[in-house]
Amino acid sequence: MKNLEFPKGFYWGTATSAYQIEGGIKNDWSEAGKKYNAGLACDHYHRFEEDFDFAKQMNNNAHRFSIEWARVEPEEGKFDQKELNHYKEVLLALKQRNLEPFVTLYHWTLPIWFAEKGGWLNKDAPKYFERFVEKVVREYKGLVKFWITLNEPNIYASHSFLIGGWPPFIKSWQKTKLALNQLIEAHKTAYKIIHKIVPDAQVGPVTNNIWYRGILKILLDYKWNHWFLENIKNYFDFIGLNYYFGYSISGFIFKGKEISDLGWKIVPDGIYHVLMDLKKYNKPIYITENGLADAKDAKRAKFIIDHLKWVYKAIEEGVNIQGYFHWSLIDNFEWDKGFAPRFGLIEIDYKTLKRLPRSSSKIYAEICKNNAVEL
Ligand code: FCB
Repeated sequence: MKNLEFPKGFYWGTATSAYQIEGGIKNDWSEAGKKYNAGLACDHYHRFEEDFDFAKQMNNNAHRFSIEWARVEPEEGKFDQKELNHYKEVLLALKQRNLEPFVTLYHWTLPIWFAEKGGWLNKDAPKYFERFVEKVVREYKGLVKFWITLNEPNIYASHSFLIGGWPPFIKSWQKTKLALNQLIEAHKTAYKIIHKIVPDAQVGPVTNNIWYRGILKILLDYKWNHWFLENIKNYFDFIGLNYYFGYSISGFIFKGKEISDLGWKIVPDGIYHVLMDLKKYNKPIYITENGLADAKDAKRAKFIIDHLKWVYKAIEEGVNIQGYFHWSLIDNFEWDKGFAPRFGLIEIDYKTLKRLPRSSSKIYAEICKNNAVEL
């Protein structure tokens, strides 16, 4: 049997975000109505040790999570030391288990005071973000090497300011552009301040890239997959790539492809194409999210293996890929879609909050242990 061996030191992990799992958070989403309130979620806030044990059992050597701005700075300029200590405990729990932390500073949710000021549309938004970033980075200096500034600015801006389905529910081209420009500034400002505090830190954004086919490639590829990166050139040490699916207008090219529970087409070779397109930036790439909603766990193991085969091919062809984080460690609150989609390698019973490893988690554990995919 042939093994696809990944480079030495490759990071294997899972990805999560605070609002989707922690529970008990008051932010712009929780205040936007019942549908947007994650409530107790998975109560990860109190159960992170147990959850990290699962990551350890899967032979992971890294973990991606986010710090909730609304917890740390619940009132403008006033930082909550208790919450800062909480995330320190989280970091120490990861360290104890030899899980390298990849810390996201902004994964779509805002403190209420900031949202009330207009959030990213406020002209001083990058400065507010900088103050939060500075505090957090000083606090965890020595504990964190990999900092992710923003999660998927393209997805966030389009849902919140163009489609209007997420807080603050705006539908305007102009505001979308303004928000994106502010996010570019926020990223650059964060990049500079992090390096000032921790010169050898690795700082990067996470971008959601879609594999566009046919005419869509011409129309959307640059704008969706590259525009943000082009605008922050010289201000990133790595690229975090979130890849979920491919897209074509007719759907014909992807005819016959399997779909996830959310109807997303499963297109494993797409990850290879988007990775090849990122090669030109000449930076290390971490796949910071890749996964599917699959309550029955019927497709997850094959999904992981198929995607990793294409990741491997990109590595063989010279793309500098240094890690893979599956979305997600545990089932979670999937934004406007609520708790129905099941993305976890570990299942959550929301009645009892019991954790139950799905069988695909065993396959992932084997891959991480061997640093290889067996064909
Ligand atoms: C990504 C998000 C993540 C999760 C997955 C399914 O776009 O970054 O929080 O919702 O999709």
